[in-house]
Amino acid sequence: MNGGTPTDTPRPAVTLRTLRGMAARGEPFACLTAYDATTARWLERGGVHVLLAGDSAAQVVLGFERTVDMPLDFAIQITAAVKRGAPGTVVMADMPFMSYHASADEAMTNAGRFVREGLADVVKLEADASFAPIVERMTRAGIPVCAHIGFRPQATAIEGVPTAAGRTQDAADLIVEDAVRLERAGAVLLLIEAVPPEVTRRVLQATSVPLIGIGAGTDCHGQILVVQDLLGMSDRPPRFAEPVASLGEAVQSAGAEWVQRVATGTIGGQTYRMRDETSPPAFPHSGASGTPAAGDPNNASAASTAEPKG
Ligand code: KIV
Repeated sequence: MNGGTPTDTPRPAVTLRTLRGMAARGEPFACLTAYDATTARWLERGGVHVLLAGDSAAQVVLGFERTVDMPLDFAIQITAAVKRGAPGTVVMADMPFMSYHASADEAMTNAGRFVREGLADVVKLEADASFAPIVERMTRAGIPVCAHIGFRPQATAIEGVPTAAGRTQDAADLIVEDAVRLERAGAVLLLIEAVPPEVTRRVLQATSVPLIGIGAGTDCHGQILVVQDLLGMSDRPPRFAEPVASLGEAVQSAGAEWVQRVATGTIGGQTYRMRDETSPPAFPHSGASGTPAAGDPNNASAASTAEPKG
């Protein structure tokens, strides 16, 4: 289950069964958000077990203030992109606000789109116990569901209430009840956000499916963060997210370096040379379509292998 570089042997594909096994053995599994194939590919190489194409993309990709502004079609597209980038990783779709609220039929149709068009292994919905019938219907249809409990950004975005949940005894009791009812309805995973660790421990005692935590202490079976928070790209990361890199600053430096190179005409890389028109055009390794082969200096996608300007 270790990570690795592109040259390492790929790890065996991670499945929901893998996660259940890890949880049973007390081996914590690692989850992150991802919104594109390239990042997903590198995170899979790093050994991450679960990638969530989160509705946080509304904020970190699309620049909205709130996750409730996540467009459904965009969510489906990025879920598929993540799965194409990380085919051996459990990819979780995040059902956007109002894609499962208006009616059970609409919830089913949209969950089905996430599985068929979005290639999702599991769909996540922010839920309290009142969503149990929808979870039950999805489960009956064979769609694995992760129920997101505790602090639920979609449910609270409009009211603008605090960014944590379960901080009173009554509120904690309700979260435990949500967890129990949603597991009973068929949820194969639970995800709990921004609650005191005592609440997490109560949920763990009351349920048996793997529990993923974000800002919920270290007792969970798995841990998830928004990848930009981990990479040091967020201006105001939440209190529970400790960056392991300073990629924001690295991107800023790269941008500044490029500005400098462009200004001074030192853009680096290689250019194309004129084709010798006296010899016949030949693409010896091209397919029937006549597509230029990798290594052909006229193939822009193979630019890194193109010959230098002669
Ligand atoms: O969309 C998201 O990033 C999430 C995580 C906070 C779990 O739902």
